Amino acid sequence: MTEWTNEAAIQRWGSMPRAVLEQMAHDGDFAKRHLINPVLLRMLGDLTGQRVLDAGCGNGYLSRMLADRGALVVGVEPGQSLFDFAVEQETVAPQGIRYVQADLCALPELGAPFDAVIASMVLPAVPDWTGAMRACVHALKPGGLFVFTVNHPCFEQLWTTWREHGQYRTSRYLDEYEIPGPSGVDFHRTVSTYLNQLISLGCHVTEVAEPGLDPESAADGPEDIEAYAHLPNFLIVAARRAA
Ligand SMILES: C[S@@+](CC[C@H](N)C(=O)[O-])C[C@H]1O[C@@H](n2cnc3c(N)ncnc32)[C@H](O)[C@@H]1O
Repeated sequence: MTEWTNEAAIQRWGSMPRAVLEQMAHDGDFAKRHLINPVLLRMLGDLTGQRVLDAGCGNGYLSRMLADRGALVVGVEPGQSLFDFAVEQETVAPQGIRYVQADLCALPELGAPFDAVIASMVLPAVPDWTGAMRACVHALKPGGLFVFTVNHPCFEQLWTTWREHGQYRTSRYLDEYEIPGPSGVDFHRTVSTYLNQLISLGCHVTEVAEPGLDPESAADGPEDIEAYAHLPNFLIVAARRAA
């Protein structure tokens, strides 16, 4: 078990430098553009008039993509520099997105229940991730759609180990451990840990995706990115709250 508190983890995420936030402001980074965004948008379907919660919205790139497609978006983000950046983008080019600065485990009243809640790359960043997942599910209408993405727990060091060894290598999977990153800390948990928690919240899993990079995009991507064409860097899960 981790000794990290949500507050300490948020503090780390919330000092992400502006240059990084700007770099990913439009549609995320290469991996999100090719592997996450298309799957999320397909799973969400027609967003016209849908109330959508972007839980842990970071710099707000996904909130803006969803609003572009007709969704009524609330973005929740506790980290200071990320929240400020998202609000600034909304001020400069208003899309009707409401940003709320909050920990998912201590959500203020957000209004009517949501048609869909997305937590993209957020649950691994939260020490009290079960509380965060519960809040996401409870924010939904009965029958509403919850989609979350995580770095695939089986292949978390994909790019770095592929670069080093020309293949994937790992030595531990079953423990919970910290994964320090340049902008914040993530926590490794197993696939079954995530799925069983979702099931215990009364959700019905409707789709599990492990997207791979198509070879053409791999050729245009960063060095050694062909690893992403052979092994899945992300796990994307869609589930419905019980009706
Ligand atoms: C890897 S970033 C992903 C951000 C965004 N969803 C995206 O895909 O670009 C992880 C995010 O989780 C947020 N986060 C960490 N702890 C949180 C908590 N307790 N409640 C809500 N968000 C949290 C961080 O501040 C950060 O914005």
